[in-house]
Amino acid sequence: MKILVTGGTGYIGSHTCVELINSGHEVVIVDNLYNSSLDVLDKIETITGVKPKFYKVDILDKEKLEEVFKENKFDAVIHFAGYKAVGESVAIPLTYYENNIAGSINLYQLMKKYEVRNLVFSSSATVYGDDFEVPFKEEYGLGTTTNPYGTTKKMNEMIITDMDKAEPENSSVLLRYFNPIGAHASGLLGEIPNGIPNNLVPYIAQVVAGQRDFLRVWGNDYDTVDGTGVRDYIHVVDLAKAHVKAIEYAASHKGTEVINIGTGKGYSVMQVLKAYEKACGHDIPYQIMERRPGDIAVCYADTAKAEELLGFKAQYDIDEMCEDSYRFTCNLKK
Ligand code: NAD
Ligand code: UD1
Repeated sequence: MKILVTGGTGYIGSHTCVELINSGHEVVIVDNLYNSSLDVLDKIETITGVKPKFYKVDILDKEKLEEVFKENKFDAVIHFAGYKAVGESVAIPLTYYENNIAGSINLYQLMKKYEVRNLVFSSSATVYGDDFEVPFKEEYGLGTTTNPYGTTKKMNEMIITDMDKAEPENSSVLLRYFNPIGAHASGLLGEIPNGIPNNLVPYIAQVVAGQRDFLRVWGNDYDTVDGTGVRDYIHVVDLAKAHVKAIEYAASHKGTEVINIGTGKGYSVMQVLKAYEKACGHDIPYQIMERRPGDIAVCYADTAKAEELLGFKAQYDIDEMCEDSYRFTCNLKK
């Protein structure tokens, strides 16, 4: 298939382009390079032997985005482009709603105009909010989101569902990612956080790289194995492979499916820290702090639907996720 990948030079998008190319698909990337850089295209070429066609276009610029649709006949779209910093979304909500909602609507309108029926959208486990029991199941529906970023994911899910009801030829898969971490085994692709990382593993990576003094562990009084928060970490390469299965599923079905992508297993902050210490070969300094506002104690996926509909099961374990993250971090310093 010829697939438009918005946000394709970003962290998850770049890994997904590699897996799409390796599966024989043709990839066209649209990205405004707000949170990524052009050299990612060379890295994709080094890994796959193919340099994807690239357009530096902001999805808010509908005229320029339409040029991309005029020049290419797409079979499908995977939509990653968006802002993703939770704290920032609280501070500048309108910017988040504009980029993640108005930008997405531009894209969906062009898909309708150019009759591109198949879509995979990057949603998040954040749409479950704190309303449900673990493991989170797709049938729970949408919970109460606690920040504008999460609300943009929930609104996109609602918009796509309504759009597909009105257009019965459409087929969309809404992937609810749990916590993507890790990097490509080549050490060439990974996550480069903008400023101080909010997420656990990018923060640990910066402590290990000497950019931060210690990890702040947000609370050790939760009702969990060791009192620290538990999450379902998934290797970004597993997540990328799930996108290949999801877009192929979309192309052979109709309607809207919501599918969790996680491992189904939870690890505490201290367990992740230990795995990272094993990967880098030394202790990593940390301090226990107060709980972070808005955090939930435990979050992990029910993965039955991904297995049943997509035949997807995550392969990498937490040690491999930390080893690959560490390798990428070491390469950044070179
Ligand atoms: P990322 O920031 O690395 O990638 C997003 C890409 O989109 C970047 O390359 C950025 O330059 C581009 N972009 C942003 N706004 C754009 C615009 N208006 N026009 C064109 N390009 C634009 O983020 P990521 O971690 O790869 O996440 C990809 C998607 O997955 C996002 O929608 C994110 O919200 C979602 N998601 C991420 C996580 C996570 O933990 N990383 C979890 C759940 C969902
Ligand atoms: C966060 C976001 C969520 C988003 C997800 C993936 C919040 C409240 N939630 O979720 O909306 O979908 O990232 O991008 O920001 N931790 C520490 N020290 C740190 C960082 C994290 O102890 O420096 C702990 C957290 O308290 C949590 C765990 O590590 O228990 C994972 O945190 P994080 O990586 O931020 O992911 P989420 O909390 O799942």
